[in-house]
Amino acid sequence: MIALIKKRRPLTLILQCKIKNTKPDMKISITTLLFSGILLFIVACGGNNPDASQSGTTNDAATTANGNPSYDPERGTGKFTEVEVGTTLDVTKATAGEQTFNVKCSACHKLTAEKLVGPGWSGVTSRHKAPWIMNFITNTDEMLNKDPKAQAQLEICLVRMPNQSLSDDDARNLFEFMRKNDGVK
Ligand code: HEC
Repeated sequence: MIALIKKRRPLTLILQCKIKNTKPDMKISITTLLFSGILLFIVACGGNNPDASQSGTTNDAATTANGNPSYDPERGTGKFTEVEVGTTLDVTKATAGEQTFNVKCSACHKLTAEKLVGPGWSGVTSRHKAPWIMNFITNTDEMLNKDPKAQAQLEICLVRMPNQSLSDDDARNLFEFMRKNDGVK
């Protein structure tokens, strides 16, 4: 036991000195106590840390963008808050949206899931809510500066989508075309 103790760290040695004058069996029980204490401390810390960091992450993801607690990541930032969307497709809007897509978007976006310069549009209406998409395509710069989901795409694509100078109607029509592309009839 004494040989073992000698190999241990200075802290133990100091304690060993302090208890030098006590009886041998007393020594053992104090040393045992000390080590149980250290063990308990390590176990307690190990158990607490993941909990704390987990709840912190959940809160951050739900309510903040760059530390701003009032930011709503579901709608992004821009003029659109609520968008009226029908249960069936508005064919007129979708057709107008398709024309704008051919002129202004198809150079960088495919209608499949495949990435071109930007992400493929397949599934885009389930990845984002209508206001988010319409804010992103009309207020692209600010969204790329502030929005976590837009920034995540930027990290993958490494190209900043340029502002496309869309009118509010263009944006709404394009959203309807995206719904059509995602199978809404
Ligand atoms: C010069 C290439 C380019 C053009 C043109 C372009 N985009 Fe983009 N788009 C991107 C890139 C790149 C991204 C990913 C974010 C980033 O890196 O800026 C993106 C992202 C998007 C997203 C988010 C997709 C997702 O899955 O998160 C939407 C929606 C979008 N673009 C719509 C449009 C619309 C609508 C047009 C046409 C009016 C258009 N884009 C034109 C390059 C382009």
